[in-house]
Amino acid sequence: MEKLIYMDNAATTSTAPEVVSAMLPFFTEYYGNPSSVYNFAQKSKMAIEDAREIIADSIGAAKSNEIYFTGGGSESDNWALKSAAFGLRDKGNHIITTKIEHHAILNTCAYLEKNGFEVTYLDVDSEGFVSLEDVENAITDKTILISVMFANNEIGTIEPVCEIGEIAHKHGILFHTDAVQAMCHVPINVTEMNIDLLSASGHKFHGPKGVGFMYMKNTAKLEPFIHGGAQERARRAGTSNVPGIVGMGQAVKLALGTLDKDTHTIINMRNYIVDRILGEIPDVTFDGPCIDANAVSACCCSPAGSLKRLPSNMHFCFKDVSGDSLLIMLDMNGICASSGSACAAGSIDPSHVLLAIGRNSDEAKGALRLSIDKDLTREDADYAIDALKAAVARLRG
Ligand SMILES: Cc1ncc(COP(=O)(O)O)c(C=O)c1O
Repeated sequence: MEKLIYMDNAATTSTAPEVVSAMLPFFTEYYGNPSSVYNFAQKSKMAIEDAREIIADSIGAAKSNEIYFTGGGSESDNWALKSAAFGLRDKGNHIITTKIEHHAILNTCAYLEKNGFEVTYLDVDSEGFVSLEDVENAITDKTILISVMFANNEIGTIEPVCEIGEIAHKHGILFHTDAVQAMCHVPINVTEMNIDLLSASGHKFHGPKGVGFMYMKNTAKLEPFIHGGAQERARRAGTSNVPGIVGMGQAVKLALGTLDKDTHTIINMRNYIVDRILGEIPDVTFDGPCIDANAVSACCCSPAGSLKRLPSNMHFCFKDVSGDSLLIMLDMNGICASSGSACAAGSIDPSHVLLAIGRNSDEAKGALRLSIDKDLTREDADYAIDALKAAVARLRG
């Protein structure tokens, strides 16, 4: 096989072999529909409930029945926003979010705006942080939901969710967080962090694709989003994706068992790569919170708030370089990375996240996101950095 250096773990991760092993029997041996009454189906049902327990436990949910399985992060985000909006319409029509959310949130907000809702998109500072003062000032007597992402998928900023949740609750407003990039990468405790609704997706933490979950606090019960059968306590219809759910549960168990150790390994490697790139390539910016930001945050009320940047994330803008050409040259060397740009109708728009942190369109065009996992070796990192240096020099030349 040709050389493959995978540095795009924010896009998706490899499915862990232990996850695949846990899933396989639920394709071949225990294929019963968990909603069926006969004994054979009980194995599937029990496996789903085990996964629900593991996940609830991992995020500090009070009860396992606060976890609802979905088809992934986008579905969970859509559910949270649309059901909160339409369900609470008699209380108000105003939603607060940020300019740097994933499109699963931004495009859902745009849809809601077309349907009579008002959305405030909060600015962020040059490192991608939302200001708590701005959150509080944006609240009106019509505000029904605040949705702020846990960690940004392009520049890795970890938002002060705990404090935002506190503000939301002080005003009797529901708080949702898109934790698709954060789940299993940083500690999360929904109870300590004042979270009512949380979205996550299995394939971002070495689980399978097409499966995710929504944490919905029992006091914040939303209307179903997918109507049909009575699965997921009649809140999310559709025959359960048993292998996917089992795999996601296994992935959570694996990730949390080694989270501290893996975080340490990843941060060391991340810092090495950043130091080399900034030290050896001229005219490059490092985007998002500075890497010293792994220090404990002074204000957060839970240990989960101690990180200000996703350990695995690095983001750079190379001056006078096209990010897309850079990606092609890296790809020719077997290196998988991402620019973070959004493709729309054949034209490449600069990233909304980079514009929001103050980069101009030209700067944003030279974007490169690298996201690593614990298995990246020093040898592969060196190979990738050398290839990157050569590619940047060639593109500039
Ligand atoms: C922050 C964030 N939210 C939502 C999603 C969508 O998740 P999914 O691919 O599971 O639909 C992603 C995927 O990249 C993401 O990074």
